[in-house]
Amino acid sequence: MTEAILLVGGKGTRLRPLTVNTPKPMVPAAGVPFLTHQLARARAAGVTHIVLATSYLAEVFEPHFGDGADLGLELEYVTEDEPLGTGGAIRNVAPRLRSGPDEPVLIFNGDILTGLDIRALVATHESTGADVSLHLTRVPDPRAYGLVPTDDTGRVTAFLEKPQTPEEIVTDQINAGAYVFRRSLIDTIPAGRPVSVERETFPGLLAEGAHLQGMVDSTYWLDLGTPQAFVRGSADLVLGRAPSPAVPGRCGDRLVLPSARVAPDAKLTGGTVVGEDAVVGSGARISGSTILAGAVVEPGAVVTDSLVGAGARIGARTTLDGAVIGDGAQIGTDNELRAGVRVWCDATLPDGSVRFSSDA
Ligand code: GDD
Ligand code: MG
Repeated sequence: MTEAILLVGGKGTRLRPLTVNTPKPMVPAAGVPFLTHQLARARAAGVTHIVLATSYLAEVFEPHFGDGADLGLELEYVTEDEPLGTGGAIRNVAPRLRSGPDEPVLIFNGDILTGLDIRALVATHESTGADVSLHLTRVPDPRAYGLVPTDDTGRVTAFLEKPQTPEEIVTDQINAGAYVFRRSLIDTIPAGRPVSVERETFPGLLAEGAHLQGMVDSTYWLDLGTPQAFVRGSADLVLGRAPSPAVPGRCGDRLVLPSARVAPDAKLTGGTVVGEDAVVGSGARISGSTILAGAVVEPGAVVTDSLVGAGARIGARTTLDGAVIGDGAQIGTDNELRAGVRVWCDATLPDGSVRFSSDA
């Protein structure tokens, strides 16, 4: 069956501080590094050989996943000396591919949570005889993505990465970050320099008359590139709204890893996950949130749609709503943090020092 390349070398800038110590694909979602879900889904679709194209914090992947045997996979790792961009990363791993020139190779962005039917994308590729086939999805605001208009047979007519002007917003169909390439096309990407597959390879192929085929579907799809999206994605995995064979436990309102300690009267809802050795105190209410390993949520704290980093502490009666607390940060008691606030790793906030409302 088909082999795959996973692009996992981005810096994850928009996810900071979550990505200060951890590359984006290794931040835990539903209790395991996010990449585990993608690997398990590819395996379930029959993929057995996967090459990880790494760059930023490259050294952490192999110690965790090893040769991939635990997941039933054969994993290989290739690290770029300098980041080569998405296209350069694909070209850089070509020597590890085993497919023949006309065989299909799957390529995945490493930050996408989706219910995509991977086999259906490969089947579309083979039945249309395309050079490249792309998973497309529709979003209300496409500006942060690659816009991909198609004709009425699904053939791609243009590729507009992150459009800058209103005139460029010609469709709500976007590149969903999963491709099938005819292997011989991968070998035509220039080697040894940065290449953007979105800004250079796709527009270039279209200009040469290559056949790019889009497959639009309306299955679950989320780019976990921002903290709010990451927290949402983790909760959707726990709730079972986003499909993954790698959720460590039964799907439901909450996922508490075995070594976590949660007070009996604490309330965990909305897909909340409590990581290894984390502690949740009496009367705490946590909804739709991710509490990473070793973090402490003290009694009476109220945490909503937020992420609490590894080893961080949330003081008693503190409220978090749409907040990201970096690894090791210490948030004192009686604080109120809302609206996308990002507290950096190891920062300390004294008791009662930040509010969004009066203290009445
Ligand atoms: N190895 C390697 N080297 N990987 C990289 C590099 C690099 O230099 N740069 C980025 N990547 C990886 C990232 O780790 C990520 O998995 C993937 O390539 C895409 O990069 P992002 O930084 O997440 O791009 P984006 O989200 O802004 O846009 C991309 O994804 C959208 C869908 O979510 C584009 O492909 C858009 O066209 C697409 O719509
Ligand atoms: Mg992304």
